Amino acid sequence: MSSVHALKSDDIVDFNENTALDLILATVKDTPSPRNRALFESLLRHLIAFVREARPTPQEWRTGLDFLKRTGQMSTDLRDEFGLIDALLGTEMLIDIINRQRPENATPNSVLGPFFNPNAPRKPYLADITGGVPGERVVLYGEVTSLDGKSVAGADVDVWQTDEDGKYDAQMPGPFELNLRARFTTDAQGRYACITVRAHHYDVPTDGTGGEMLRAMGRKAGRPAHIHMMVEAPGYDTVITSIFPSGDPLIGSDAGFGVRKRLIAPYAKATAADAERFSMPLPFATMKFDFALVPRG
Ligand SMILES: [Fe+2]
Repeated sequence: MSSVHALKSDDIVDFNENTALDLILATVKDTPSPRNRALFESLLRHLIAFVREARPTPQEWRTGLDFLKRTGQMSTDLRDEFGLIDALLGTEMLIDIINRQRPENATPNSVLGPFFNPNAPRKPYLADITGGVPGERVVLYGEVTSLDGKSVAGADVDVWQTDEDGKYDAQMPGPFELNLRARFTTDAQGRYACITVRAHHYDVPTDGTGGEMLRAMGRKAGRPAHIHMMVEAPGYDTVITSIFPSGDPLIGSDAGFGVRKRLIAPYAKATAADAERFSMPLPFATMKFDFALVPRG
C-alpha cells in the first residue's frame, strides 16, 4: 500500500481571493537558489496585489497578454522591443541606478539604447567621424580622469550619435555604413577628441508595441538630443552614458528617463584659440565633456 494518502476534501484549501497569495507563494518555496526564490516571491506578491487592487477584467488581462506576445514576436537581434519598453517605463535607468551607487562627482550612466555597435572603427585623436554627412562641424573633446583627478591614459572612448536630423547610421537611407560613431583611445593626458556634427532630438520607434503603449498612455516619444558615450579603462567601472546638449527643447521630458544634470553640456561657438588648438577653420562649434571614473571595487 502506498504511503501517500489522498487529502481529505476538508483539508483542501480552495483557491480564492484571500488564499491566492499563500497558495502561489507555496509553489516557489523549494526554489533552489535563494536569490531566485526572493525574486519570485517579491514578483508574485506584487503581481497578486496588482490583480487584487486593479481588478482587471478577463478582456483587459487578455489584452495585456496579447501585448506581451506581440512584443516578443516583433523582437529580433536588430530590434529589442522589450528593451525599448524597459527604457520607456524607467526600469532600465532605475535598475542601473540601484546597482551602481556612484559618488556625486563621478560620471553617471544613462540609457544604452539600441544603436550601440561593437564594430565601430577605432580612430585617432581628433578624427572626423561624420562620414561626410551635412551639418555644422563640432569638436567634441574632453579628459578622462579618475575620481581623484588623475588622468586615465589608454581608456577606450566609444562615441555614437545621430546626424542633424536625429537619424543614426542604421536609419539612414542607402546601403548601411558605419557613420557618426568611432572608438578612441585617450592619450597620456587622458584626452580624447573627435570631429562630429550637432546631434538632434528624435522620437523612439513608435511602429511597435512600445509606440502602442505610449499612445495608450497619451505620452510623447521624444528623446532630447544626446551623444552616446561608453568609457572603459582597466581597473575602473565602465561608464555607459550620454551627453545631453543644453537648451534642447525636450531636455525636461526624455521618454527614456536618461537625462541627469551632471550629463548636460553646452555647444559653444569655437574661438580663434579653438581654431588654432584643433587646426580647424572657423566657424565650428565645440563641446567639452570630462569623465570621472570610479575605481573598480
Ligand atoms: Fe540615442
